[in-house]
Amino acid sequence: MRVMVLGGDGFCGWPTSLYLSDRGHEVTIIDNLSRRKIDVELEVESLTPIRPVSERIGVWEEVSGHAVGFVNLDLATEYDRLVAVLEKIRPEAIVHFAEQRAAPYSMRNTHTKRYTVDNNVRATHNLLTALVATGIDASLVHLGTMGVYGYGWSGSAPIPEGYLTVKVPTPDGEIEREILHPANPGSVYHMTKTLDQLMFSFYAKNDGLRITDLHQGIVWGTQTDQTSRDERLINRFDYDGDYGTVLNRFLMQAAIGHPLTVHGTGGQTRAFIHIRDTVRCIEIAINNPPLAGDKPRVLNQMTETHRVLDLAKMVADVMGADIAYLPNPRREADENDLAVRNDQFLALGLKPTTLSEGLLEEGRLVAARYRDRVDPSKIVCRSVWRAGMETADDLVTELPAQA
Ligand SMILES: NC(=O)c1ccc[n+]([C@@H]2O[C@H](COP(=O)([O-])OP(=O)(O)OC[C@H]3O[C@@H](n4cnc5c(N)ncnc54)[C@H](O)[C@@H]3O)[C@@H](O)[C@H]2O)c1
Repeated sequence: MRVMVLGGDGFCGWPTSLYLSDRGHEVTIIDNLSRRKIDVELEVESLTPIRPVSERIGVWEEVSGHAVGFVNLDLATEYDRLVAVLEKIRPEAIVHFAEQRAAPYSMRNTHTKRYTVDNNVRATHNLLTALVATGIDASLVHLGTMGVYGYGWSGSAPIPEGYLTVKVPTPDGEIEREILHPANPGSVYHMTKTLDQLMFSFYAKNDGLRITDLHQGIVWGTQTDQTSRDERLINRFDYDGDYGTVLNRFLMQAAIGHPLTVHGTGGQTRAFIHIRDTVRCIEIAINNPPLAGDKPRVLNQMTETHRVLDLAKMVADVMGADIAYLPNPRREADENDLAVRNDQFLALGLKPTTLSEGLLEEGRLVAARYRDRVDPSKIVCRSVWRAGMETADDLVTELPAQA
């Protein structure tokens, strides 16, 4: 298939591009490299030394024999160029990762709130209108988030895959309707994903676009079979307070001798997926598009749920680390339970990669290898959900000597 991977230079997009390329798909990456520019703004770098995009694409061709295209294009602001690229490539499938994806960054200040909404909503809407305008019948697979559902809203009921059946009282008795699960975003970033959902519903209904929205859990892990073929293909690893995600942060912290940073009590339960499963799920999704006229197909792209404190204890036990309880910069429940349906991916053949010591070890090795690249002043999260909320001081000012 001819596949365009929007945001294909990012943490999920790069391994997905290589996986699809390896599987024989003809891949073109579209990315404006905004994620790399945000690293410059935040004065932090990926823990792993990611190479410039043209170099990593060149290395991939060298090691695999497969060419991957690249277009530097801002989806939110360069509509005409987007149309031209779509008409040139005429993709059969489009995978859309290209959004500002960090909740803490989206809450950092007024500028980052506005940027996140402008970037994400416009990127998605430009893409949808460009598909309608060009008449290109590509199926669209978008990366949403489990965070659109919020946490704790439905009590102990497992979170369904996108839709909820409700009873509506009418003068003639009750009728049943299927509605999008109520949106309950916990940050400006999550809010943009709930707005994406509405746009997808409209364009599927009005224009017959074929859309799959993947509500993904927190991704952990670093490497896939493709990115580990050459060090110059290495995937990015975010460890900083804004972009680092919880389990990868714990692995990095344990590997460098930093206490594990648990926010609040650590009673938050979240959904997780390993990066190796992310790339498989994307291929499953592009191989199983909905039909024109169908409502957007929503799948929960996650394989397991864990309480944050349980994860911290597991990493602390396996790798030997202390746990630090820090003020929670987010406005969220201290504790929640979480049960999630993921029947569709399982039925479509996903074999979940679940948390195991072997995979934790891979994270530890990556973090240990590149520990000298860590700036300890970037580890504590300082983006707060409301001005004036308490944050912690740095726990470590200098990197402890290598064990
Ligand atoms: N990483 C996770 O744990 C996680 C969890 C759930 C959902 N997701 C979703 O998956 C997607 C990918 O996440 P990621 O971790 O790879 O993020 P990332 O920031 O590493 O990658 C996103 C890529 O999109 C590009 N991009 C952003 N705006 C763009 C624009 N306007 N035009 C062109 N390119 C643009 C960035 O430069 C970057 O390379 C995101 O939409 C995110 O919301 C990620």
